[in-house]
Amino acid sequence: MRPAAESPDSLHPLLADRFSPSRFDPSAAVDDRTLGLLLEAARWAPSAGNSQPWGFLTARPGEPDHARLLPHLAPSSARWATDAGLLVVTLTRRYVGEPDVQYSEFADYDLGQAVAHMTVQAQAMGLAAHQFRAFDLDALTKDLDPAPGWAIVSMIALGRAAEPPAHLRERRPVADLLAAPWASQE
Ligand SMILES: Cc1cc2nc3c(=O)[nH]c(=O)nc-3n(C[C@H](O)[C@H](O)[C@H](O)COP(=O)(O)O)c2cc1C
Repeated sequence: MRPAAESPDSLHPLLADRFSPSRFDPSAAVDDRTLGLLLEAARWAPSAGNSQPWGFLTARPGEPDHARLLPHLAPSSARWATDAGLLVVTLTRRYVGEPDVQYSEFADYDLGQAVAHMTVQAQAMGLAAHQFRAFDLDALTKDLDPAPGWAIVSMIALGRAAEPPAHLRERRPVADLLAAPWASQE
């Protein structure tokens, strides 16, 4: 069966309008309630066996952790992430249990879902999120020193976008989503 070609404009506006801004409004603070709702959204994501293998460090401008995170950003992300009302470090719990530590196959997958929840909740509250990997992972891990089994995966800059939505970024066609995994069998 071939699905009908659809336009992104037919999607729910929370999905159609989402984008990763490259400029944030430095005057738009993220208040405690907003931060609480973002974490609550992550909390209700699905996960393998309800394992919930996600964790976060949050930091807003003026908080000690914010100043701690900034030196670890790559210049490419520091340009816009510094102005965001909130920085989030995302962590996954890949290894569980003592003393026979067990590898959790879906930990990163589940973290991604929790971040997607957070991103959509942000969008619903008039905010935008830009996830990024452009930071010094080794130095940040050394500095934050997560508990055994936990690993830092990504960061998120979150706040009010200071640029118009750019929601027509290039995407692979739906037909390719269905065909690409099987290309070797053609
Ligand atoms: C895991 C992950 C890592 C990313 N790393 C970066 C990054 O280091 N720098 C950056 O500018 N954007 C980064 N992005 C954002 C993507 O480039 C962006 O989501 C993609 O280009 C699609 O654009 P859109 O989110 O506006 O639709 C990252 C996104 C994800 C999910």
